[in-house]
Amino acid sequence: MRTTAAEALGVEVGVLLAGMGGVSGPELAAAVSNAGAAGCVGGYKLVGEHLTTMLKRLAAGTDKPVGVNFIPEVVGARELTEQLEQLLGETPESVYVSLFGLPEDAVFDRVAASGRRLVVQVGAVEDGVRAAERGAVVVAQGIEAGGHLLGHDPRDELVARLRDRLPDACVVAAGGIGSPDDAAVALAAGADGVLLGTAFVVARESAAHPYFKEAVIGASGADTVITGVYEIGWPNRRHRVLSTAVTENPGQAKNFIGRTTIEGKLFLVPRFSAAVPTDSTTGRVEEMAMYCGLSCDAITRAPSAAEIVAAFDRVLRGHAVAETGKES
Ligand SMILES: Cc1cc2nc3c(=O)[nH]c(=O)nc-3n(C[C@H](O)[C@H](O)[C@H](O)COP(=O)(O)O)c2cc1C
Repeated sequence: MRTTAAEALGVEVGVLLAGMGGVSGPELAAAVSNAGAAGCVGGYKLVGEHLTTMLKRLAAGTDKPVGVNFIPEVVGARELTEQLEQLLGETPESVYVSLFGLPEDAVFDRVAASGRRLVVQVGAVEDGVRAAERGAVVVAQGIEAGGHLLGHDPRDELVARLRDRLPDACVVAAGGIGSPDDAAVALAAGADGVLLGTAFVVARESAAHPYFKEAVIGASGADTVITGVYEIGWPNRRHRVLSTAVTENPGQAKNFIGRTTIEGKLFLVPRFSAAVPTDSTTGRVEEMAMYCGLSCDAITRAPSAAEIVAAFDRVLRGHAVAETGKES
């Protein structure tokens, strides 16, 4: 039977925070979950003691359903298994697993056996069908999205085609959703909830660098570009970012332009690094990868996470009533 994203994840509001590495830290994830939506931290490459630190801070921040995001193609099968086992062993059942792109079949089986909810983001119909058949909530990412791009289709076309193929699956729309009106359009195309990245980059609790937040607030969709230049650490995947001196002139040297710390782990940032500038980043922030969706068109200020969730609440609840005939 078809369920809303809120029902599938056991939350009040069918808004999912994208698990953005370096941006969606425990403070932002907990604030989103405590506001009634589905928070998520970006686990990115964290493993071992650094991941443990993040999971502890997440547990201290909320006892509501909340997710941890990993990226199978960045870490590879062996390290993904390590991250996943750590997550399953160190967190309560209310913590769901979020993945960017399809994992190997064994991962679906392991998460199912653990009793956790699994959310998988895809950019193509066949990938969505595969994820849904294995019991995952499917996030349909359109090319409007900020960050790395999994496919080539506009969001609502992908949502509508997935809905057609999967009448009973839980399908969440992602990409270019910056306002409740944008969310209403995606829901009308057949989505059961929405996932927001860029809209939460600017949130007060987000760990994005202040320069990055201001740039998103000041930008329009025309200031974003789809490029492959921020490839160090995550090669061979196109991404939508704010246009910078690096996207405009990619022929520059690959020297170090800054440093950043994530959960106590220090990284040097070379020019062309895939790492986003965070509140711990120093150096030439303006040249770094500032992932940003077309959603920035609707983003004009820096509210708290709870304000963002509240703004989307009405349209999501209205949708739940229309689809299921009952209040959620
Ligand atoms: C700054 C930033 C970082 C991101 N990092 C991740 C990540 O680590 N893992 C992930 O699954 N998706 C990541 N994404 C992509 C989101 O999951 C999602 O596809 C996208 O944000 C949706 O489009 P929107 O930004 O217009 O809302 C990131 C997006 C942004 C803007």
